[in-house]
Amino acid sequence: MPVIIDTDPGIDDAIAILYALRNPALDVLALTTVAGNIGLDVTTRNAGRIAALAGVRVPVHPGAAAPLGRAARPETGIHGNDGLGGVAFPEPLQPASEEGAIAAMARLLATAPAGSVDLHCLGPLTNLALLLRSAPQAARRIGRVIAMGGAVEVAGNVGPKAEFNIAHDPEAAVEVLAAGLDLTLIPLDATRQLRADAACIAALRRGGAGPATAAADLIEAYFAATSGAESRPLHDPCVPLLACHEALFRIETYALGVDPATGALLPGPDRVRVAMGLEAGALHDHLRAGLEG
Ligand code: RIB
Ligand code: CA
Repeated sequence: MPVIIDTDPGIDDAIAILYALRNPALDVLALTTVAGNIGLDVTTRNAGRIAALAGVRVPVHPGAAAPLGRAARPETGIHGNDGLGGVAFPEPLQPASEEGAIAAMARLLATAPAGSVDLHCLGPLTNLALLLRSAPQAARRIGRVIAMGGAVEVAGNVGPKAEFNIAHDPEAAVEVLAAGLDLTLIPLDATRQLRADAACIAALRRGGAGPATAAADLIEAYFAATSGAESRPLHDPCVPLLACHEALFRIETYALGVDPATGALLPGPDRVRVAMGLEAGALHDHLRAGLEG
């Protein structure tokens, strides 16, 4: 399954990328980076560091340094100043590409059979919106888009109804939802059901050095960013997990829109498949097995 991963690593992005890079079912063609959890320079370097830890040479293409029409607002309180919670990662195996994210997406989509390349979005949707604007014919060749974002029936995490990825660039989300893509959204309603606790960390540590141990370190750093939490939600890993194990998710179809001011999901004209639940136990097993490689 050829896939482009668009990401703002980011602690939970890193776990998702480690899982995807080590998963034989996924052929990760490129990592495209975006400003979100942390600035673009840091997300781009982190993408290279994560690939290096996975031992995989994959091109990294830097994308948007800020949302459409507004300033970037990093979340260093959760992801740390280095975007990876201070967890030790190697240096990138190779420099980031001179080719930008949008140009790389357009090239990969134009040269692959139509519908054969999926896009996994783990951060704000700025890069996808820019692709839709500048290369609509390439964007129409995307197979399916699976994006972590939004909150439907649960409270938001950056506002009463606003979730970080959508709220960081609501204008981009408006354009993506309206584009008629084969879009599956994984909102907080589902991702908050995949939670990492102390037992999860211990199980990952039994998986030996490499991605499993790095994931354990990342989750511990995630805990350090919040006081008293018994567990932490694994938002972004839900994206590659849904790509590989869709039957373990409960998916509904909603007619949605986005409030351009707050990024809240609203009833609207755009029909979107939305994951509203998941089987956490089985997905934890798949995630751990994938990280242990
Ligand atoms: O709301 C969770 C999302 O925001 C995740 O993608 C996390 O990495 C942050 O980007
Ligand atoms: Ca993210």
